Amino acid sequence: MKILVTGGAGFIGSHTVVELVNAGYDPVIIDDFSNSEKSVLKGLKKILKKNIKCYSKNCNDLKTLEKIFIDENIEGVIHFAAYKAVGESVQNPLKYYENNIGSTVKLLHVMNKLGIKNLVFSSSCTVYGQPEIIPVDENTPRQPATSPYGSTKAMCEDILRDTIVSGSPLKIISLRYFNPIGAHPTAHIGELPNGVPSNLVPYITQTAAGLREKLTVFGNDYNTPDGTNIRDFIHVVDLAKAHVAALNLLKKQADNYYDTFNIGTGDGVSVMQLVKTFEKVNKIKLNYEIGPRRPGDTEKIYAITTKAQEVMGWKAEKTLSESLKDAWRWQKKITKK
Ligand code: WQD
Repeated sequence: MKILVTGGAGFIGSHTVVELVNAGYDPVIIDDFSNSEKSVLKGLKKILKKNIKCYSKNCNDLKTLEKIFIDENIEGVIHFAAYKAVGESVQNPLKYYENNIGSTVKLLHVMNKLGIKNLVFSSSCTVYGQPEIIPVDENTPRQPATSPYGSTKAMCEDILRDTIVSGSPLKIISLRYFNPIGAHPTAHIGELPNGVPSNLVPYITQTAAGLREKLTVFGNDYNTPDGTNIRDFIHVVDLAKAHVAALNLLKKQADNYYDTFNIGTGDGVSVMQLVKTFEKVNKIKLNYEIGPRRPGDTEKIYAITTKAQEVMGWKAEKTLSESLKDAWRWQKKITKK
């Protein structure tokens, strides 16, 4: 089954391409490389021992999308392509609305027109904002997003749901990611942050590699056991496998189907616990200091993952230690170059 992977050269997209091939799917990538590198395609070839077809295009273009669907006989889509820098989205909201919303709307147009039904959408736990009740399940009320980036994820979920309510024969799953970390165990692919990483783990690995002077822990005066924020850190390979499980579920569904799933480990881990685990498993002393809170940070959030387990037959298997070992192995590899 030919699957179009938009943003397939990105961090989560590339790891998903590997798991799609491993599961017998035939992925085709479309990526404009605005937030990814062509070297990812070489990494994929090293892992998969074959070239993965890639269109270096922006999927916010109706004609381009339609031509690829027809030329490649696409039967399903995993839609990753989106801008995702929370901070940048506050500075430049229109860039985020135009790209993240626009590409999703155009994708739906093409899929409806050509009768292509299977769509897995990359959503985010950011739609929960700061939930009153922790951990969160899929019925936890969404909160107003704390950034335009988060708003685009919530709006796209609404657009998908409204499309199904309108009677479209599409079959759609939204996967709400918690915090993806780590890298492929082969170290042929991994996270390639643009500029200074805003996310915790790449900042840690770059600090450990000497590329950053020190890590700043954004606040230790929160209402948590050690005062630092709590998150649900999930290995990117486990996250990638959830997309295969979602496609397998869609194949069994009747037309006009929509559902959402939390994709996390179900374990809440604090920033400080992660820092200490990184030091321990990689036998490294990390240079860090406690600094002021980062505006907009959620105090604590982690997932109830029962639904994904019961309905999709998926659960996270890798440990935090494995994720942090894989993240460090990848950083050492790309720093060596
Ligand atoms: C995690 C924790 C920080 C950096 C965001 C998006 C989410 C998804 C993942 C895209 C927080 C702390 C971080 C640092 C720190 N993105 N931290 N020092 O904010 O939970 O989620 O990224 O899909 O949608 O909202 O991830 O890694 O930025 O932060 O102390 O240098 O690490 O305060 O508590 P976040 P993060």
